[in-house]
Parts: sequence; structure tokens; C-alpha cells
Amino acid sequence: MEEAILVTGGAGFIGSNFILQWIANEGTPVINLDKLTYAGNLRNLEHISADPRYKFVYGDIIDRDLVCSLFVRYRPRALVHFAAESHVDRSIRGPDDFVRTNVQGTFSLLEEARAYWTGLPEREQAAFRFLHVSTDEVYGSLGPNDVPFSETNAYAPNSPYSASKAGSDHLVRAYYHTYRLPTLTTNCSNNYGPYQFPEKLIPLMILNACSGKQLPVYGDGQNVRDWLFVEDHCEAVRTVLARGRVGETYNIGGGNQKHNLELVETICAILDELRPADPVVPHRELITFVKDRPGHDRRYAVDARKIERELGWKPRESLESGIRRTVHWYIEHEQWVNEVTGGGYRQWIETHYAR
Ligand code: NAD
Ligand code: TYD
Repeated sequence: MEEAILVTGGAGFIGSNFILQWIANEGTPVINLDKLTYAGNLRNLEHISADPRYKFVYGDIIDRDLVCSLFVRYRPRALVHFAAESHVDRSIRGPDDFVRTNVQGTFSLLEEARAYWTGLPEREQAAFRFLHVSTDEVYGSLGPNDVPFSETNAYAPNSPYSASKAGSDHLVRAYYHTYRLPTLTTNCSNNYGPYQFPEKLIPLMILNACSGKQLPVYGDGQNVRDWLFVEDHCEAVRTVLARGRVGETYNIGGGNQKHNLELVETICAILDELRPADPVVPHRELITFVKDRPGHDRRYAVDARKIERELGWKPRESLESGIRRTVHWYIEHEQWVNEVTGGGYRQWIETHYAR
């Protein structure tokens, strides 16, 4: 396919926002390789499922024969790698899949990308990019007065999730330095917005609050995260892909640091206004402090001045408007919510792909 890009994990939260934005703005073909774990949902992409510029491939990034066949068949000009196990709490309960997908899976992609790239004619070789999407969590935890993470911070991951992402980042770095594979790495802060699986803080709180369920805040609720609207992240990834300097890493952040408790209270206040007839109003009465997450990082904050200075990217959405948009989205997409939270969607996928 002429000028195609290969995206991994495109049925997940950020990947599906990225593909929708890519088709709307860039308009060139996208191949989406996704294993459809619990976090992957083809419903996110149903508006473009019949678009000739979009092709879904069901499969695992660790499967080198499959990855190789996609490079041979579609000759992509870039690989944009989102696929991962992404939830810290799940990584604490079962780290195996995190090491398998995040480390081993990234290694498979790097090896197959290297083989493909090595055989390209000079001009295509120079244009090819391997863009690895990573997280600010690789830098560890900040104290209240520490300056935000910059690209030169030492890595200090604290959860199996962040450790596995750190491992993948190191491999990507090594493939640039050793083989000159044209890599780019982005390390982004916490995302929120449409299509986020409701195991993560913001959608979990919105949905629990609407149905009168407890809002479980870990520890004292004073942990800080730096929130970025997902569409801003997708624009940043497109920007780095288009103009990032090969071999570099770029930190991406919203400049929106908030304590968890304050964020949950903000969501409750919006819902009080929009849904006065919910089972428990004011919604904040549902807030319940629960046992803390083991090894819970206290604070994340990102210094995103490099991407702004070098590539001119800045977030567009404010936290206030972005949270409001997100609350509206979850209220208006009851069917999506029911499908991802019930067993129906999973069952459909299993039946459909049983062969
Ligand atoms: P997600 O969990 O919503 O989606 C992950 C996607 O990857 C799913 O579609 C899943 O089916 C797919 N996948 C998982 N294992 C796979 C495998 N072995 N082979 C093929 N596909 C597989 O994750 P997300 O929140 O969209 O995150 C996407 C990327 O962005 C991840 O690499 C994550 O580390 C990174 N990131 C996320 C955030 C955030 O706040 N969510 C912030 C910074 C960076
Ligand atoms: P999460 O969305 O899991 O992202 P991450 O751990 O990658 O930052 O959690 C965001 C913050 O919210 C984090 O400090 C943990 C906290 N949290 C809760 O207090 N309660 C919850 O039920 C969840 C899922 C998260």
C-alpha cells in the first residue's frame, strides 16, 4: 500500500484515537495490528471499518512471522507502536503479560523492522521511522518540590508496568545506537478522554458515580498526575513522526498537575450539574478511601519544553474543558460502556476469531 503506516495496538484507547485522527487529518493508509486483549475494542473504529484506507489485522506483536509478512506485504513507511499491557494495577497482580508484550513484543517488532529496513532502497531507508510510544512512569516518582521530568532524567521505574516499558525504551534506544534503525521515542503523561477502558481512574469514577457505586480513592488521594487530553497526545505523536529528530526522545505532557482527590471531586461536581437524578447526589458522598496501591508513585509531572521548542507542539485542550467533554462522552456512549464492561463483546470476539 502506497505510503501506509503500520500501527500496533490501534484498537486500544490511545491507538484508536490516533487512527481516527490520522484518517481524518493525514488521510494515508493505516494497517492496525492488534491482539484484541480485554483492552482492545474494534467498536472504537467502526466509523472507518469500511474505509479502503484502513485495514485491521488480528494478531500478536510477538509473532515475528506475522510482523514480517506485514512489512513485506504493505511496505509501510513507518511503524507507530502503541500495543502494550498498560494498567499498573494489573501489572501488580500479574506481571507476566507485561514482560511478554511490552519487552518481548517490542523486541520482535524491532527485529522485524530492522530486517525490513535493512533491505529497503536508500531513499526509503532514510524516510523510514520506528516510533515507540512510552510513558513518563519510566522516570519513577517525584517529590512535591522536584522539577518535572525532562528527557535527561535517569530512569527509575517502580511498578512492573513501568519497568517493562523502561525495558522496551532501552531496547529502542539500543537499536538506534547499534544498528542506526531510525527510531523515535515519546514519553507521555497520563491520558484521558473517549474510549479509555473503565479500569483507569477517570472513566472508572465517572461510571461508578453515575450508578451510585463507591468511588475508590487509593491511600490519602494526594498522589499527583499530569493529565493530557488524548487527542493532544495523538497530535504530539503525529508531530514527532513528521518532524522529530531520529534517535531522540520527546516528553509529552499537559502541564495539568492535579491531586487524585481534587480530580475526583471535579468529576463529581460536573455530574451533580448534569445528572441531578442519579442514585446518590451529591456524587462526592460516594468517595471512599481504600487501601493504597503497593509501590504507588506519589507524583508525576512532565517538562514538555523540548517538543514545544523543537517541533512547535503544545496541548490545545484545558483540563477543565477536557474533563467536561470526557464526562459527556461516557454519558452519551452507554452502549459502548455496556459492551466493554459486560462479557458480550469478549464473547463475540472469541466466537468470531475461533477459527
Ligand atoms: P490500552 O491498554 O487501552 O490498549 C492497548 C492495546 O494494545 C489494546 O488494543 C490491546 O488489544 C493491544 N495489545 C496488547 N497486547 C498486544 C499484543 N501482544 N499484540 C498486539 N496488540 C496487543 O493502552 P493505551 O492506554 O491506549 O496505551 C497505549 C500506549 O501508550 C501504551 O504503550 C502505553 O504504555 C502508552 N501510554 C499510555 C498512557 C495512558 O495514560 N493511557 C500514557 C502514556 C503512554
Ligand atoms: P491510573 O488511571 O491507574 O493511572 P496510573 O497509575 O498509570 O497513573 O491511576 C491514576 C491515579 O489514580 C493513580 O494515582 C492511582 C489512582 N487510582 C485511584 O485512586 N483509584 C482507582 O480506583 C484507580 C484505578 C486509580
